[in-house]
Amino acid sequence: MAATPVVVAIDGPSGTGKSSTSKAVAARMGLRYLDTGAQYRAITWWMLHAGIDVEDAAAVAAAADKPSIVSGTDPLAPTITVDGTDVAAPIRGQQVTGAVSAVSAVPEVRTRITELQRSIAAEAAEGIVVEGRDIGTTVLPDADLKIFLTASPEVRAARRSAELTGRSGGPAAAGADVVATREALLRRDAADSGRKTSPLAKAADATEVDTSELTLEQVIECVVTLIEERGRRP
Ligand code: DC
Repeated sequence: MAATPVVVAIDGPSGTGKSSTSKAVAARMGLRYLDTGAQYRAITWWMLHAGIDVEDAAAVAAAADKPSIVSGTDPLAPTITVDGTDVAAPIRGQQVTGAVSAVSAVPEVRTRITELQRSIAAEAAEGIVVEGRDIGTTVLPDADLKIFLTASPEVRAARRSAELTGRSGGPAAAGADVVATREALLRRDAADSGRKTSPLAKAADATEVDTSELTLEQVIECVVTLIEERGRRP
């Protein structure tokens, strides 16, 4: 008998373990996986590459439909391309990270990316875990399960700077210090939560999980249990 498809929305600010949790849960439960932050990063990368001033909302809006963004939804090997170019690495760079809040606040960008997200979710016959900021509130308000992950700013900053240090290969990257990371993270949270169009927000019917004192495995277990309560088995 085929497993029951289930749509899971996982929202929250950065550094809460959203991506690691979402990928692991999807892999364990036989679901597809969509990283919506990667899509906003990809369109931002294209804008920067095209020489568009990302602070010029009208210019960003006018170009919002131009790039073709394709997300691969295998949780064990997610991919992202823009006009056929693999952008998985450059979208994690500082330039994109610094510009993504401005680009993702433009309503035309959100409309475009939201449509893309809904069509990917609709095509995932086996069900899907979609992670982002506005999935439970705006993109998939009828999701079977909504999770909102939180963690203290200190914990989030420590996780993010460990991630940055690891990515750029060790002690040389100790520049990714916790204080600067905490400030950058809080700035981006404020921009993401304060924007007019579908800000970062917890849906009224979302289950909040504070991950500050939990290991990744404990968070995964918690979400898997909530999915199983909705009738889905691995
Ligand atoms: O999860 P992330 O850090 O890769 O997300 C990058 C940016 O994209 C984040 O600053 C806010 C934006 N974003 C958004 O506005 N809505 C989403 N559903 C996902 C991400």
